[in-house]
Amino acid sequence: MTETDENTAQDGLPKIKIRGGNPLNGDIRISGAKNSALKLICASLLTEQEVKLFNVPTRLRDIETLEKLLTHMGSEIVVNHDAKTMSLKGLGDKSKTTAHYDLVRQMRASILVLGPTLARHGHAKVSLPGGCAIGSRPVDLHLKGLEQMGADIQIEDGYVLATAPAGGLKGADIHFPKVSVGATEHLLMTATLANGITTLSNAAMEPEIGDLANMLNNMGADIRGIGTQKLVIHGVDKLNGTDHSVIPDRIETGTFMIAAALTGGEVTLKNTRPDTIDAVTALLKKAGAEVMIDGTDITVKRKENLQSLRGIDIMTEPYPGFPTDMQAQIMTMLTLCDGAGMVTETIFENRYMHVPELVRMGANIVVQGNSAIVRGVNKLKGAQVMATDLRASVALVIAGLCAEGETTINRIYHLERGYEDIAGKLSAVGADIRREK
Ligand code: UD1
Repeated sequence: MTETDENTAQDGLPKIKIRGGNPLNGDIRISGAKNSALKLICASLLTEQEVKLFNVPTRLRDIETLEKLLTHMGSEIVVNHDAKTMSLKGLGDKSKTTAHYDLVRQMRASILVLGPTLARHGHAKVSLPGGCAIGSRPVDLHLKGLEQMGADIQIEDGYVLATAPAGGLKGADIHFPKVSVGATEHLLMTATLANGITTLSNAAMEPEIGDLANMLNNMGADIRGIGTQKLVIHGVDKLNGTDHSVIPDRIETGTFMIAAALTGGEVTLKNTRPDTIDAVTALLKKAGAEVMIDGTDITVKRKENLQSLRGIDIMTEPYPGFPTDMQAQIMTMLTLCDGAGMVTETIFENRYMHVPELVRMGANIVVQGNSAIVRGVNKLKGAQVMATDLRASVALVIAGLCAEGETTINRIYHLERGYEDIAGKLSAVGADIRREK
């Protein structure tokens, strides 16, 4: 053990230990999508009536952070962890329109409380989310869109101060110069309560946006073009409460699909949406996995008689392309493939922090600009590794499942932002994995 390893091992924080080599076999139930639930929770700010959400991944740290933020902003929230439900009432206290730095900095998606609060109350003050491990990630497209809807936006002491014009926000024709999931969702929510018609073109088409738009329509909004690059929103005076079930998490689904194919077992992912993960399915098949779809179940195993999967090239793209949130996991897969594969990241400029950690485990990866060449090796070896962001962390979990010996993953704080009970879910299908305090 090096000195750094020892320091890490003794930091007293929870960690995950994995003894690699077990094939995974059995069923895993997929949770509700974190990236959808977060936006649906923000959308509850658009009405004073009750929004009741089902299939919520209630134990995720990101969900808890947003729950705290909305509570500070005057919402009444009741969570039932066993039933996976969350009921939210944005009571409409006009004095509680500030989202403070200490909560917003913990999660970038918190910026999405800005538009709904502004649309309903005429003003809002939200801390800027600041930097982030996977790149600078600005919010210029969000703010520019709000300005086009007539808002006055000032930046003061790290806060965005937004004020709607007298008479309220107004519809606008907004063209995004770059596809942004967050900006599309933010302006979509805000436009539901603006006066007149808003069009969002070059909008993102991620399934989570469709989930949000469907819920908003059930609340009384008028959104057309769902699932396309052009959303047309006819503003309404007010929105009502609703009941809504969060779509299954496609990234959790894809992550376990890769783990199953790579460890060489047979895993069925239950309660998912196979149509939302087509890009991953296609690449896994190309690499030599068998993927069988039966309604809301996906079963994955390696093709009979195939010793290892084959190297493939991938490029991340907005939906329906290959998701950037699956890039780290597929890279782990490539480290153990036959031959080489090239990964090109086109969405975020600094999303290769998992590379040095995988190299510590014996991977052969060379990064050049926004591409990485991964040459397959015969085996990975367990090591002490450090999680740096959510998807990088889970890529290390997959590596640990396949590595010889023991892998310790430190700083699992990141992992617990986005994966519910990952150690429990994986050990139930045969992995030797445990979370340690
Ligand atoms: C969301 C997801 C994240 C996923 C990403 C891309 C959530 C909570 N997070 O993040 O998991 O990796 O989509 O699929 O749903 N950009 C700008 N200006 C802006 C906004 C974005 O330049 O105002 C850039 C970003 O820096 C990035 C690109 O646009 O390079 C895409 O980012 P975006 O789609 O907005 O990602 P998020 O919504 O933050």
